[in-house]
Parts: sequence; structure tokens; C-alpha cells
Amino acid sequence: MSTTARAVIDVDVTGPTISRHLYGHFAEHLGRCIYGGLYVGEDSPIPNEGGIRLDVVEALKALGIPNLRWPGGCFADEYHWRDGIGPKDQRPHMVNSHWGDVVENNHFGTHEFMALCEMLGADAYVNGNVGSGTVQEMSEWVEYLTRDDDSEMARLRRSNGRDAPWKVPFWGIGNEAWGCGGNMRPEYYVDEARRYATFCRNHGDNRLYRIAAGASDDDLTWTRAIMEALSCLGCQRQPDGVFQGLSFHYYTHSGSGLKTESATEFGPAQYWGTMAKAADIERVIRAHSAVMDAYDPNRTVGLICDEWGTWWDVEPGTNPGFLFQQNTMRDALVAGMHFDIFHRHAARLTMANIAQTVNVLQSMILTDDDGNMVLTPTYHVFEMNRGHHDASSLPTHVIEAPSREVGDGELSELSISASTKDGGVLLSVSNLSLDESMTVTVDLRGRGVTHRRSRLLSGSTVRSFNDPGDPDAVAPREFTTAMTDGVLTVDLPAASFATIELDLV
Ligand code: AHR
Repeated sequence: MSTTARAVIDVDVTGPTISRHLYGHFAEHLGRCIYGGLYVGEDSPIPNEGGIRLDVVEALKALGIPNLRWPGGCFADEYHWRDGIGPKDQRPHMVNSHWGDVVENNHFGTHEFMALCEMLGADAYVNGNVGSGTVQEMSEWVEYLTRDDDSEMARLRRSNGRDAPWKVPFWGIGNEAWGCGGNMRPEYYVDEARRYATFCRNHGDNRLYRIAAGASDDDLTWTRAIMEALSCLGCQRQPDGVFQGLSFHYYTHSGSGLKTESATEFGPAQYWGTMAKAADIERVIRAHSAVMDAYDPNRTVGLICDEWGTWWDVEPGTNPGFLFQQNTMRDALVAGMHFDIFHRHAARLTMANIAQTVNVLQSMILTDDDGNMVLTPTYHVFEMNRGHHDASSLPTHVIEAPSREVGDGELSELSISASTKDGGVLLSVSNLSLDESMTVTVDLRGRGVTHRRSRLLSGSTVRSFNDPGDPDAVAPREFTTAMTDGVLTVDLPAASFATIELDLV
């Protein structure tokens, strides 16, 4: 069985730039994301530099990771940065009470994180502690990281072996302040956050993009309260410049509420529930954007989804507090659909961070203690979509596509977006159907285009995943598409994701 779909793209009418920061990442002190995933320690037999795992870094570099958020998440609001500097054998231990109640030895701290960012070529996004920290502690962390001269914190940094200050563009003022970050009311949080943000100074030429901890899902009450408090009536309700960004978090699962299910064992009902939930992030982005537009019509504050991705039951036999899950073609389709939506909202949405980079939730990479490393289907979507980084979005009009009823709504089985940069066009297309192939015709108008390359990601089933025994069960391959008189024809198997690269003539 096969279906058909049709879309039109005006190649000469560009939309907002798709910030590369929409392809950002998140690494928390949670389970085996840092320890065992990104960091194995200097004494490990696994090749490393300063304890940082080299095979993982190499694989991540291929994604062009634009920014990396650290150290949490919930962990951020119980992290005290001074415990993570100086000789490792003298660093205090702490209890990671959110994630597995394990003892954290603080061997991966500020210097190790910044070294990792430098190895990846990624901008640092440091999330400060509002929940259990102090204004002085956060202010001094900024100074330690970014100040030159002989200030007290700059001298402390030098005494720990780093002469030049680092650049730290992104700074989070707490995390999930409505929950694990301190169970605050929005009115209380925003007053506190304004105070913290005030003392996060711009040292030298480092410019901080301060990000307020935002809502869960579609909690518009939170967003409205923050925007209200960031605005000043005397200046026509424009935000007053204390914050440059406001976050929200959005996780995808197949059930309602917090109900999760197996990452690999699922049927059509769970699959379509997942896809509907993933698609619903577009409504949520629209809703937050509408609230922000009322206070900030000139879009001076960016909307940031600094945690997104699938959240399944942990793999059987693993620590429930470590959030280790497999990753199938279903996860890849969730990622592809999120990016299509992010591209459409690039005017307000300035950053997004998948949760999380290695071994936690919807990861790029899974590792084990034997030194194996596996790239997930989600990794391949990030790699295939790399050409969208900092490209101009191309409004894409779906004229006709199969759809189905899921719950109370109608869900299109086609997901698509496009962008242009450097004389080329990149299209991303997904066929969500579980059992029907789809022939998609795309009418590219306004400029001549020629075909460069087409790549397809699919598995033998939507439940296919990669593991050390079969690392390429889901991996991209070249495939054939047809181009006639500016009309591209793409035959997509069921449950597949594809990218098509074109040259402008
Ligand atoms: O990503 C896992 C956790 O999910 C984060 O620590 C927290 O911010 C969110 O609830």
C-alpha cells in the first residue's frame, strides 16, 4: 500500500534564520551521561584526553554541536561549583539526591566541562544554582570562568591551571524552579532570578545570554508571570534587559501525564500516541510565543526549549534513577518532527537542547563499560540535518498529505521542512505511516535547482535499534529520488526519514 503527498516550496522567499543553537545538547550529572559516557577518567583503558572519552568526542564533532548545557537539570540546583575545582583527590564528595542517590566525586567539574566544550567546538551553556545556592556563589562562578586581570576569582582559576578566561555565552538562572529547582511560585522565582541575574556580570568582552527557568509543557501561567515581571510599564512593557532568554521543557512519551512505556516494545497505539504528543509541541510553542508577543513584540527575549526528547521506561535491569533507555526509529521520527517544527518557529525559538547527549533519555550515543559505543537513530537525524544550522528557513506548504485521527486530533503522516544556505537547499521529510510507503512530490518554485544527494534513514521495523551486536541496524544510506522540471519526487518507505540536498542554479 502506498499513499501520496504534495508540497510547494518558494525557494526565493526565505523565512527566519534557523539558529544552529536549535541543535543544542544537554549533559547532566545523571546516570552514565557524564561518568562512563563523556568522561572515563585519566586512568581508564578507554582512550581519553584528560579523562574525556575520545571516541565519543569524535562522534559528537560530526554533529557540529553548537552548545552544551551543563551540569543539570535538577542536578544544577544542588551543585556547588567550588567542589569541582582543584586537585581531584581533594574534591569533596556529594550525594546526587535527584539521580539514583549515588555519591558524586566531583571529578568532572568546571575545567573538565570547559575542556570538553573546547574539544567539541561547542559554546558553553552553564546552568547556575538558584535552588540551594547563593547570589555570591553564582556571581563568583561567572567571574572565575570569564574574567581576565587579577581579580580574586581569576587568580583562583589560574592557580588551578587555566590562565586565559573562557568564553561562556549562555547562562541559566536555575532550572525547573516550579519543581526540583526549589518548588517556587513564579512570582517568587522571578524576583529571585532578577536578583541573581543582576550579579551575573559581563566581564571583559564576554556577553552573557541569561536564561530564566521556564515552564513545563504548556504552563502559560508561568510564562505570563515571568514575562510580566520582566517587562516595565514605563518603557511600554518591553523586557528590561535582565534576561535574554526564557526556557520551557517538553518531553514526549506515549501515554498521558507522566506515564512512560518501553523504549523498544510498543504497538501501533503507543506509536501514534507518541507521534501525536511529539507534534503537539507546535501548539505549545505557539502558545508560549503568543504570551511572549504580548510583552515583547520585538522579540528581544528568545524562547528556549532547553530540555526535549522522548522519556521511556529504563532498560530492564538498569538503575531506575539513571534514565538509561534504548532508541529506535520511533525516536528518530520524533526528532525529525521536532526539528521541522523548530524550523517553522525559528523567529521566536532561538535555542533547543535535546535531553540528553549520552546514555540518558533520548541520547545520541550509548556506551557500555566494555568500551563499546553505539550511535543511535536519533544521532543520525542530527547528522543528516546538520545543513540546517544557521540556514534561512524556506516556508513549506503542504498541499495534500494523508492524515489520521489520534485521540481528539488529526495528525498528518507527512512531516517536512526546508532551508537554504551557501547556494544549496536542504529538505527533511518523514513518512510517519507504520505500514504504507509514501510518494511525496515537492514543487520547488522561484529558483532553478539540481539534485546533489539524497539520504534515507529507516530500519527493518519502526522498533529497530542499534546495539553493539548490530550497530548499523538503523543507519543512513544513499537512495534515489527523481527531479523533473523543478519537481522532486521522493519515495519514502513506511516509518522513514530522509534528507535531500539540492544545488541552486
Ligand atoms: O533530563 C532529566 C530531568 O528532567 C532534568 O534534570 C530535569 O530538569 C527534568 O525534569
